[in-house]
Amino acid sequence: MCGIVGYIGRQDALPILIEGLKHLEYRGYDSAGVAILGKDLQIQKSQGHIAALEAKLVQMDGTTGLAHTRWATHGRPSDLNAHPFTDCSGAMAIVHNGIIENFQALKEDLLAKGHTFVSETDTETLVHLFEEHYKGDLAEAVRAGLKKVVGSYAVAVIHRDHPGMLVAARNENPLVVGVSADGEGVMASDVTPLLDFTHEFTFLEDGDLVVLREGEFQLMDLDGEPVERPVHVVDWNLEDAQKGGFEHFMLKEIFEQPQAILDSMMGRIVEEDLTALAPPDVDKIKIIACGTSYHAGLIGKYILESLAGLDTTVEMASEYRYSNLAKESALVVAITQSGETIDTISAVREAKRRGTSTLAITNVVGSTITREADQTIYTRAGPEIGVAATKTFITQLIAIYLLAFALGAKRRTIGAEHLRVLREELRRLPSQVQQVLNNRDLIKGVAEPIHEAHDVYFIGRNINYPSALEGALKLKEISYIHAEGYPAGEMKHGPIALVGEDTPIIAIVVDDPVRPKMLSNIMEVSARDAPVFAVGLEDDVELAKLVDVVIPVPRTNPIFSPVVVLVSLQLLAYFVAHMRKCSIDKPRNLAKSVTVE
Ligand code: F6R
Repeated sequence: MCGIVGYIGRQDALPILIEGLKHLEYRGYDSAGVAILGKDLQIQKSQGHIAALEAKLVQMDGTTGLAHTRWATHGRPSDLNAHPFTDCSGAMAIVHNGIIENFQALKEDLLAKGHTFVSETDTETLVHLFEEHYKGDLAEAVRAGLKKVVGSYAVAVIHRDHPGMLVAARNENPLVVGVSADGEGVMASDVTPLLDFTHEFTFLEDGDLVVLREGEFQLMDLDGEPVERPVHVVDWNLEDAQKGGFEHFMLKEIFEQPQAILDSMMGRIVEEDLTALAPPDVDKIKIIACGTSYHAGLIGKYILESLAGLDTTVEMASEYRYSNLAKESALVVAITQSGETIDTISAVREAKRRGTSTLAITNVVGSTITREADQTIYTRAGPEIGVAATKTFITQLIAIYLLAFALGAKRRTIGAEHLRVLREELRRLPSQVQQVLNNRDLIKGVAEPIHEAHDVYFIGRNINYPSALEGALKLKEISYIHAEGYPAGEMKHGPIALVGEDTPIIAIVVDDPVRPKMLSNIMEVSARDAPVFAVGLEDDVELAKLVDVVIPVPRTNPIFSPVVVLVSLQLLAYFVAHMRKCSIDKPRNLAKSVTVE
């Protein structure tokens, strides 16, 4: 996820673009850059926050320009990898948000044609591709280039020979355009930087291309055929706009999960060989992580064991580093959304000292863990502002599925047909998560009786035992209600002593071999008068008879069920916290990245 802003008008573009970028910094903040079209095309960019760019900016005169704030996916944050990029002639500048899946193949082709590249990014391929197609008509060059692209993009382009013109296009990444009362043409990734200019916006749809000039814009498809899109009046203030109209970043990020899953899978289900990330002789895995990432690891154990036949153990990073193991023989997989958790970083150092290979799964390109671990898989969730991990957690699971597919295929623990079916099922997850999100009102209704509880128990079995742990962690950290997750079979060994009419139980029941046992465990707690709410299949009539309410989730292969279950439980925690008027995006005592031991 990155932020794009563009301006065409009569005013000096530079301060307008820099101000616009500041409103988009929540979309990415590892580097920033700006291109201004004046007498010539001028570009300045810098690694770091927008303030770092501002500190070294020299004036660039011109009334047309583009700017970008980056959240790295391909290539670490650096001055060279920052956008905008130019073509070989230095005539064209582009900024891009998204992922070009076939960039390697395109790049090889362009290299063979004599183009030279300066960065590690997928984006730079686009500007050379457009240059290759440029015959004097900028829109035509962009259209022709994009027809060769597989992937997602919001891309915007300016050209020295076309002053006062900006061409932009969208596929699976947002882009909005508008024209101010004074005729200034503005565009951006979302409406936030544009609210000072207009409240009337046109949102591009997938496959749309826009040619923006002072006072007007034309929309067309990639064949150049005109398209019409409605004008929306957006009456948000700046803060509302940054949250995309959602009340909290956490809720927005929960709703971004279909896209985050899609981005995390892009180009990796079949194309990219993730086996290269693991040493060839790997036969054991040890996952180390903290908090929510630790729960992703616990779910990962089930995934890696059942799909790749790998003996997998999971340890809390803060404990691993003080264990007495002298030599480590397992491949150590460190999971950390921030890439900066000191417990996890120290555990990776310790694992290396014990003589093993390490693989990091993280969301932040260039974070400390990526320098410490031997290899890295990025989760591509985009920046997460809410302290409670949601989309970063779900995309950690996606990374683990992809790794397990790759290792399972290599170790021949998954047959070709089984793998094909699993890949199909993985591809369905974004729309299945969307179905869960569509249940938000029902889930809000379940939050009502829970929000006054003092204690809540989450129960599940097998792969959904860690889902119970994560459901409980989400609830406790943002609503401050005491919550615990238990393997459902363990309740009778002690915790059931605490169960009664004041202790709501959240039971996770999907269509897997442990379902009959889950139903028995529900009866045990119901017999102690506990109100029971289930996360379960819509058509599970038997379950519906046993519990107060079922939060329905779509039927998936059980191995993928934690994804749909946990999106429901994230929403439940959110609504409970909301009813309790808690500080949802910044829960007390918690921080987004924990750099103390
Ligand atoms: C919970 C949460 C924390 C983090 C934990 C590890 O919502 O965000 O439990 O999961 O502090 O953080 P990372 O993944 O950055 O290592």
